[in-house]
Amino acid sequence: MRKIIIAGNWKMYKTISEALELVNGLKRILYNIENVEIVICPPYTCLDQISELISESNIKLGAQDMHWETEGAFTGEVSVLMLKDLSCRYVIIGHSERRQYFSETNETVNKKVKTALKYNITPIVCVGEKLEERQAGKTFQIIEDHIKNGLKDLSKEELARVVIAYEPVWAIGTGLTAKPEQAQEVHSFIRKLLSDMSDEETAQNITIQYGGSVKPDNTKDLIKQKDIDGALVGGASLKIDPFVEIIKNAAGLEAK
Ligand code: 13P
Repeated sequence: MRKIIIAGNWKMYKTISEALELVNGLKRILYNIENVEIVICPPYTCLDQISELISESNIKLGAQDMHWETEGAFTGEVSVLMLKDLSCRYVIIGHSERRQYFSETNETVNKKVKTALKYNITPIVCVGEKLEERQAGKTFQIIEDHIKNGLKDLSKEELARVVIAYEPVWAIGTGLTAKPEQAQEVHSFIRKLLSDMSDEETAQNITIQYGGSVKPDNTKDLIKQKDIDGALVGGASLKIDPFVEIIKNAAGLEAK
């Protein structure tokens, strides 16, 4: 059975005090949710204090990126060992904003994924096409490129420990969500690629999240789709009410 994972990607939002207020609220309201894995990915500056705050709770900690080396002269970067130190369980890799503004490539994604797996942190690997790529009929080609090269040379056992997030770039922060059937079509294609790279059983157990303007009112219809196993939430994870509602909506659905 696949785990439904709802992860909040806070991007470059929230000071420490704002972050602690939000997490205290989430903890208070979500303490009895068991069938959804709840993950928050705050900025690095908040990780330490949030880690302590959620240590006894059902909320897991993730980071938004990391370097592929464990240490070195890489000014401004954060390593996997530093994330482990803070009890991070997840790390987002290859977000489209990193690809677009910070020269992230499938090659760097691949190196980061391997390092995260080596140190037992679950990478949430983001893939997705831009609007012009969709309009040019290149969606599947782009997804195949992101999946095959981003996850290149992973063993079956390693692939089984990866989470994928399909985030069509045109749906991020725009209020334009992919229609559930439109997203399902890509999710099922991703699962087929994963099966080709491992086997059917491994692929069936990999969580594939959807991301891009996920809101309380579209969560259920998206996650009801056969191959959509949760959400990577941006804007709606920055406030208690919508994020709680998204998680509760997901918790009300049957596991797949
Ligand atoms: P929004 O939910 O704000 O569209 O952001 C999605 C996203 O980029 C999550 O990683």
